[in-house]
Amino acid sequence: MGKILIVYHSQQYGDTKILAEAFMEGAKDGGAQIEMFNTNEHRITFQEFMDADGVAIGTPDYYSYVAGTIKTFFDDIWLWDRAGEQVKGKPAALFFTHGKGGRGREPFETFARRYFELVGETVDSFRPTTEEILHACRNLGKTLAEKVR
Ligand SMILES: Cc1cc2nc3c(=O)[nH]c(=O)nc-3n(C[C@H](O)[C@H](O)[C@H](O)COP(=O)(O)O)c2cc1C
Repeated sequence: MGKILIVYHSQQYGDTKILAEAFMEGAKDGGAQIEMFNTNEHRITFQEFMDADGVAIGTPDYYSYVAGTIKTFFDDIWLWDRAGEQVKGKPAALFFTHGKGGRGREPFETFARRYFELVGETVDSFRPTTEEILHACRNLGKTLAEKVR
């Protein structure tokens, strides 16, 4: 059974958490084992990262950028890479929330492409979260689960 690490930051309304939970449902349906963390509450360790076969990353747009704790996640991967660890090439899927600006999506995808093989399209959501967005998250979760199976 493939293991997926879901890493997200959610703080203001819980919108990104709602997307993360929908992603988790789809990934479980697809047969994956899940570890899920809000980076606003927990900093991902090297071991948690290395144990994952695939990674889902979710961030709100903060100042047309990723949230600080998601930036720290990417910074940590850079440091692990520099230390010679085999951190590159895991399949990953992205989800993103914003307040109608949404310009943070581009830096988010750019960071992710440095280290991951992206699966599917980034789910992009401006509140309130619709059933269509939740459906897209579940489908993305299932797609990543199939990829790591
Ligand atoms: C500090 C801060 C900065 C933000 N900056 C932006 C921004 O530049 N552009 C944008 O579209 N939304 C911005 N937002 C809105 C959030 O991206 C949006 O409300 C998101 O859905 C919050 O996700 P959460 O409820 O999971 O925390 C910002 C919110 C906060 C708290």
